[in-house]
Amino acid sequence: SEQITVADLAQRMAVKAREVTKLLMKMGEMARESDTIDQATASLVVEEMGHNPVLVSDTKVEDDLQDAVDERSSNVQTRPPVVTIMGHVDHGKTSLLDKIRETKVATGEAGGITQHIGAYHVETDRGVITFLDTPGHAAFSAMRSRGAQATDIVVLVVAADDGMMPQTEEAIDHARAAGTPLIVAINKMDKPSADPDRVLNELTTKEVVSEDWGGDTPMARISAKTGDGIDELLELIGLQAELMELEAPLDGAAQGVVIESKLEKGRGAVVSLLVKKGTLKQGDLVLAGEHYGKVRAMTDERGQRIKSAGPSIPVEILGLPETPAAGSEFLVVTDEKKAREVADFRTNREREQQLERQNKMRLENMFEQM
Ligand code: GTP
Ligand code: MG
Repeated sequence: SEQITVADLAQRMAVKAREVTKLLMKMGEMARESDTIDQATASLVVEEMGHNPVLVSDTKVEDDLQDAVDERSSNVQTRPPVVTIMGHVDHGKTSLLDKIRETKVATGEAGGITQHIGAYHVETDRGVITFLDTPGHAAFSAMRSRGAQATDIVVLVVAADDGMMPQTEEAIDHARAAGTPLIVAINKMDKPSADPDRVLNELTTKEVVSEDWGGDTPMARISAKTGDGIDELLELIGLQAELMELEAPLDGAAQGVVIESKLEKGRGAVVSLLVKKGTLKQGDLVLAGEHYGKVRAMTDERGQRIKSAGPSIPVEILGLPETPAAGSEFLVVTDEKKAREVADFRTNREREQQLERQNKMRLENMFEQM
């Protein structure tokens, strides 16, 4: 099989050859710098080398931070559900969100400039519901891989005239992998060609079975065009949320997830956050991913200035020096020194992981060339 010398491998990883021989010895393999090792062993070495040797103390930095946040949180209350709408291309995700917004968000308030912050909340008879309106599948996966579970419920939109399609199946898989409950919205019911029974049938092949058919997936027949069935859908979301008994501490340091962030001329980093715990206030010191800064200004999804935001409420903030990646966790810290320490630590870790990826890639390329 393919071989590489220890010296070569070390050079390509930008480490001393002695480091590699030492590691090999630990792995039970005696090799000198001029000796060759096979690809499997080389891969192991790269993986090992990529690992951060002070991993234990690393997680301690994050754990301490989390402890400090938890210590300050209190007054646990029911919180609104956070809902993500998914589905195949053109099945009506945007139309559904627009219709809900149009019918449920008070329109025409003075000075209310609707702006896109990637999330909004609506009042319904069963309480507030927050919708994430950015996550396509990629964003959903990114959040999941970052461990930031932002969504409580997935609403799967399936067009009644088109049926289950590849992205419908993908969304089912995503929701299942994340353990997120699913509600199906069979859309475009106003169309003469609508065939909801066909949709129900097709969904059973993915083990998504309607409650009407003895399964456990709530389904609503809707039209995002006429608005028919949307109240029923909101009702199902509310019921599901009640079942889940979603709670969060209302008081204490805020914690949550970055929904979107962008740089804007004259405003700097404009960052949309979804608060998951505690209450975020203007003036708070926010640590988001690798960046931290004081919340200079905060607005809701209608562009109205607000002073504080509790659990499941999306906001847009100004005050971070740079844009954290969507899906990063944020939290409020009291101590600027601590914020800097953790931000630095994360920056270093990110750099190391990047190096690790590069090493891996280099190694792969190298073997391809052999
Ligand atoms: P992508 O963002 O491209 O994945 O699509 P989408 O799922 O957001 O679909 P979108 O809301 O853009 O709707 C696609 C098309 O279907 C548009 O032309 C809508 O007007 C139409 N449409 C959406 N919902 C309905 C509905 O309930 N009835 C009818 N008749 N048309 C609908
Ligand atoms: Mg869309």
